[in-house]
Amino acid sequence: MTALEKENSMKRGGFATALGALIATLGSAIGLGNIWRFPYLTGENGGAAFLVLYLISTFLVGLPVMIAEIMLGRAGRANVITTLRRLSPSPRQPWWLIGAAGGLSAFLIMAFYTEVAGWVFAYVFRSLTSNILSTNPEVTTQMFVALVSDPFQSLLWQWIVLVLVGLIITFGVARGIEATTKRLIPLLFLLLLVVDVRALTLPGAVEGLTFLFKPDFSKITATAALIALGLAFFKLSIGMGAMITYGSYWKDDQNIPSTALRVALSDLAVSLLAGIAIFPVVFTYGFEPAAGAKLLFITLPAVFAQMPLGNVFIFIFFLLTSFAAIGAMVSLVEVVVAFLSEQFELSRKSATWLAVGALALVGSTAALSNSTLANFTLFGKTLFDLYDFVTSNVLLPLGGFFITLFVGWTLKPAFIREQLSNRGQLNNEWVVRLFLILVRYISPLLVLIVLLDSLNVF
Ligand code: TRP
Repeated sequence: MTALEKENSMKRGGFATALGALIATLGSAIGLGNIWRFPYLTGENGGAAFLVLYLISTFLVGLPVMIAEIMLGRAGRANVITTLRRLSPSPRQPWWLIGAAGGLSAFLIMAFYTEVAGWVFAYVFRSLTSNILSTNPEVTTQMFVALVSDPFQSLLWQWIVLVLVGLIITFGVARGIEATTKRLIPLLFLLLLVVDVRALTLPGAVEGLTFLFKPDFSKITATAALIALGLAFFKLSIGMGAMITYGSYWKDDQNIPSTALRVALSDLAVSLLAGIAIFPVVFTYGFEPAAGAKLLFITLPAVFAQMPLGNVFIFIFFLLTSFAAIGAMVSLVEVVVAFLSEQFELSRKSATWLAVGALALVGSTAALSNSTLANFTLFGKTLFDLYDFVTSNVLLPLGGFFITLFVGWTLKPAFIREQLSNRGQLNNEWVVRLFLILVRYISPLLVLIVLLDSLNVF
C-alpha cells in the first residue's frame, strides 16, 4: 500500500459505531429541506393535500431508494462512480453515469443550498446584534429583502458557509461528520417542540393545523405530485449518490432497512414539527402561506416575538438550523470529495478545497440572483430557482429511477437478500420481499408516472 492508499483506507474505516452511522445519515437527511423547504412548499402547494402526496412519495419511493443506495454503498465500499462500476454485471454497462449525474446534482444543489444556509447564518448574527423580532409581516419581510438584495452580504455569508463546510470535511468522516451531528439533532428537536407549544397556543393555531392536516383533494395536481416527489428525494438526500457514499462508511452488521426506516421517520417528524411551528403564525398574523422561499425567515421572528426571552431563543434556533444545514452540506460535498480523492489520488484536503473553490464560483451565480443577477433568467427562472427546480424535479427523481432499475432489475435477488439480511444474520425475509416488490415495480412506476404526467404526456 502506498501512503496515500493507506490514508484513504483509514478514512474508509468509516463511521465509528452503528449509532454513529445512523446519526450521520440523519445529519445528512435533516437540514434546510425540513426546516425551510418543507414548510414553504407545503404552503405554496395547498397544505394537507400536498402532505399526503409527500407521504406517499416518501414511503413508496423515497425509502426504497434510500435502502437501495445504502446497500449499494456498503457493498461497493467506494465513491459512487467506483461503486456502480464494481457492482454492475458487465463493465460495458454505463451505470456509473448515475454517479456522474449525481456529481452535477451535488454542485447545483450546493449552489443554492449554501445561499440559504448563508441567510440562516446572517440571521444568527443579526439576532445577536439587533432586534429582529416583530409580528408585523411588513417589517419581517423588509428585513429579509434587505439581506438578499445586497450582493455583498449574500456572497459574504455564502463563502463563510463554504469555508466552514470545507474545514469540517478535511477533519475526515468519523471525527468531523459524526461528532458535529451527534449532539445537535436532539437539541434541534427539543427546541422545535418548545416553539411548537408557543405556536399552538396562538389564536390562529386551529386554522394553521387545519391547513397542514386537513386535505382538500381538489388541490392535487400533476405539478404538486412532482414537487412532492422531488421534496421526498431532497429531504432523504437520495437520487444523487450521497447515500451511496455514506453507505460505504456503514458497518457490515448494521441493519440497513430498519435504520433507513428510522431515518425516514425522524426526518418526517422534524419536518412536521417545523410545519407546526410556522402555519399557526401564518394564520395568526396574516402572513401569506404561499410566500415562497422566504416563508421561514419572515414568520419565525413573529412567533419568537411572543415568547419570553424570544431574542435568545431565535438565536439558538437559527444556530441549530445552521448546524443541521452543515450536516446536510457535508454529505453533498463528500460525494464529490470521495470521488476526487479516490479517482485522482488526491489527498482529502486538496480534494475538499478544490471542490469548495469550484462551488464558490457556481454558488455565486445563485447568491447574486436576488440582486446583481435578478434580471438574468433562463426558462423564466432566476439561476437560484433554476438550480433548485432542475435538481429536485428532474435530476434527483431520474437518478432514483435509474437506481431502482439497477438494483431491481440488474442485481440478482440473491445478492440483495444477502446484503439486506447481513448474510442471513437478520431474520427479515418479509422485509426483503417487500423491498423487492417496491424497488422493482412500485417505485420506478410511480416516478415514471409523475415525471410523464408533469410533462403533460397523459
Ligand atoms: N437532505 C438535506 C436536507 O433536507 C439536503 C441534502 C443533503 C441532499 N444531501 C443531499 C439533497 C443529497 C439531495 C441529495 O436539507
